Amino acid sequence: MVELHTRYLGLDLRSPLVASASPLTGSLEGLRRLEAAGAAAVVLPSLFEEQLSMEAHQIARLLHSGAASLSAALALDDYNAGPFGYLALVEKATATLQIPVIASLNGVTPGAWVQHATLLEEAGADALELNVYYVSSSPGLGGSEVEWRYLELVGAVRQAIGIPLAVKLSPYFSSVANLARQLVEAGANGLVLFNRFYQPDIDIDSLEVTPRLALSTSEELRLPLRWIAILYRQLPASLAASTGVHTAADAIKVLMAGADVAMMTSALLRNGPDHLTAVEAGLREWLEGRGMPSVELLRGLRSQRSVRDPTAWERANYITMLASYPDQVHTEAR
Ligand SMILES: Cc1cc2nc3c(=O)[nH]c(=O)nc-3n(C[C@H](O)[C@H](O)[C@H](O)COP(=O)(O)O)c2cc1C
Repeated sequence: MVELHTRYLGLDLRSPLVASASPLTGSLEGLRRLEAAGAAAVVLPSLFEEQLSMEAHQIARLLHSGAASLSAALALDDYNAGPFGYLALVEKATATLQIPVIASLNGVTPGAWVQHATLLEEAGADALELNVYYVSSSPGLGGSEVEWRYLELVGAVRQAIGIPLAVKLSPYFSSVANLARQLVEAGANGLVLFNRFYQPDIDIDSLEVTPRLALSTSEELRLPLRWIAILYRQLPASLAASTGVHTAADAIKVLMAGADVAMMTSALLRNGPDHLTAVEAGLREWLEGRGMPSVELLRGLRSQRSVRDPTAWERANYITMLASYPDQVHTEAR
């Protein structure tokens, strides 16, 4: 029997397969189904800064001006049951499920709303994931200032709680490795690589900007794969792969790169929670087929730890790949 036992954020998990934040994790029924299908931990949908920092007078002012941000904030209450419903979900989920329950906060600025993290801990959350979803549109705001916001926020949340803290971030930084180190120094116990930005589209019939939520594909796996391979064992923090994990092969790849856990959302939304059972069976079969008794033997096997100069290695790979293009085209044409 293959051993899949995994540690993530200091938590003991039965396997490295985790259900990441999505509407599927937003109800007790969905959470039960995910646990029954084999999820080793679940991340609840995020509570948003906009929901938590809205004071009564602000609501009145926004109502008066008909601001779009109010309807956005109120629509969120349908998404995650609102701040109070969310606490109730954390309480019920931790009382009902055997697996760790990770609550999630989504914001960008430190403020009173951060204290909600304490309530999530008191409600029983085993860990907290902080999703910093920030798109800077100001030409006057430098990269280091943006990074400083992240660090300030992580420091503030760290101070508010005693449970493990994971930070989910985007890949769009000039030095992902350096920011990762600073986030860990600011108090993150783990990094979730990566958040997926949803880019709006333009409808040329209605002339409107339209939100478009497209689920991921395995093709998107290579971005987390690269950064997990680079960061493996460089920081005293857990690493979770998010974006593009759809199959057992995808999970095997991120584990080989050095991920502690493989997180799935799109694959579960597309195929249902039972897809987790198939992915776990595929992982077991692959390990058994190679005579590997535990998932630990796989972890980090293809990280960049074995490469003396990862930056030079990346450049060499880049050049080799571009140079191989004519061969690839000829092979595909045949
Ligand atoms: C419908 C939907 C809702 C999501 N809600 C959240 C959320 O509330 N908080 C969060 O951190 N990520 C959220 N995500 C992002 C996922 O957790 C995940 O990081 C992303 O979809 C990439 O992983 P995937 O390729 O497995 O889908 C959501 C994704 C989808 C598709």
